Amino acid sequence: MEMCENEHFASPQKGFSKTVLVTGAAGFIGSHVVIALVEKYPEWNVIALDKLDYCSSLKNLTPVEHRANYTFVQGDVCNPFFINHLFASQNIDIVFHFAAQTHVENSFLFPAEFTRVNVDGTSVLLNAARHSGVQRFIHVSTDEVYGDRTDRAFDELCPRRPTNPYSVSKATAECTALSYWKKHQLPVIVTRSNNVYGPHQYLEKVIPRFISLLQQNKKCTIQGSGLQSRHFLYVDDVTEAFLTVMEKGMLGEIYNIGTTFELAVTQLARELIKMMKNLSLDVDVDNWLEFVEDRPCQDLGYPLVSHKLHGLGWRPRVSWEDGIRRTIDWYKENPHYWLETEALEQCSQPLAEG
Ligand SMILES: NC(=O)c1ccc[n+]([C@@H]2O[C@H](COP(=O)([O-])OP(=O)(O)OC[C@H]3O[C@@H](n4cnc5c(N)ncnc54)[C@H](O)[C@@H]3O)[C@@H](O)[C@H]2O)c1
Repeated sequence: MEMCENEHFASPQKGFSKTVLVTGAAGFIGSHVVIALVEKYPEWNVIALDKLDYCSSLKNLTPVEHRANYTFVQGDVCNPFFINHLFASQNIDIVFHFAAQTHVENSFLFPAEFTRVNVDGTSVLLNAARHSGVQRFIHVSTDEVYGDRTDRAFDELCPRRPTNPYSVSKATAECTALSYWKKHQLPVIVTRSNNVYGPHQYLEKVIPRFISLLQQNKKCTIQGSGLQSRHFLYVDDVTEAFLTVMEKGMLGEIYNIGTTFELAVTQLARELIKMMKNLSLDVDVDNWLEFVEDRPCQDLGYPLVSHKLHGLGWRPRVSWEDGIRRTIDWYKENPHYWLETEALEQCSQPLAEG
């Protein structure tokens, strides 16, 4: 079923034991989590909420669109009238809050929009949840709140030192979420994940951007030295981490979702070039690299310690070789998924490696 925010919501659907709200549900990670919830918990009612911004697609939710325990609602988390009405009418038990402005490069151009959606939108949700008896509010944050790497990996007690408008907005949002736990006992759990990759990701993020450029026979554009590195988790592993936190996470706690698998951005480009262009000689690979101007502030990396989440039984299971092969295959099989020329044009520009 599909609805939009100015419709009047009927009473909650009967016959379900729980209702879960997923915000940012038509985006990359949110859609994978919605599909997992709908399939794993047929006795739960899953409400997928999204504004349908440029980086989202209802196609991401096609696998569950006809399922009886799934409803899509188009709406904005920044609209308190809509959000309050949603919570007041639907008896929501669990919230996964993924909705956000997520592209670091854009945050330098539109910092106020990042504050509005990521900070103010989160406050609107927290406030509505507080008055409605929610049992779990899983607030999705990012490794970027730790800021640039130091001499040791970050655990959940490390201070927040965000360095760009995106990570500042995410750090502020998670502080707000945790303040609702401390002040109002709203059952909040915060997650901080490394970079996620896999099928359906919008082309602005580094792995789909490189894949898309190579599909168009264009060079991989690398900002600055390319020595900045990222830790990459396959989306199925991250989905599993979210279900683990939902089932076993302690209220008021923060959980890193990390991997030890790390690649410098130049190395990442080289691997993708080798795989997609069937090249092995360094000199041939180098022909597909183009170094461009760096963005204003570029963290070198975000190594995480994830012992707390390991203690709940979660470990990443998908190897890089397997995950990147599945990802490349998916983009090859779906070359027109993000068909809009705007997306493909954007992909030719040096965007963020975030
Ligand atoms: N992708 C990663 O590598 C990564 C890593 C760590 C944390 N995260 C966090 O995970 C969450 C999801 O990331 P993603 O990669 O799936 O992002 P995404 O950009 O693919 O999806 C974000 C979704 O939020 C929606 N949205 C934006 N503004 C909205 C609003 N005002 N109201 C309702 N919906 C709105 C968009 O339409 C989109 O579907 C974000 O909070 C992000 O900060 C992502």
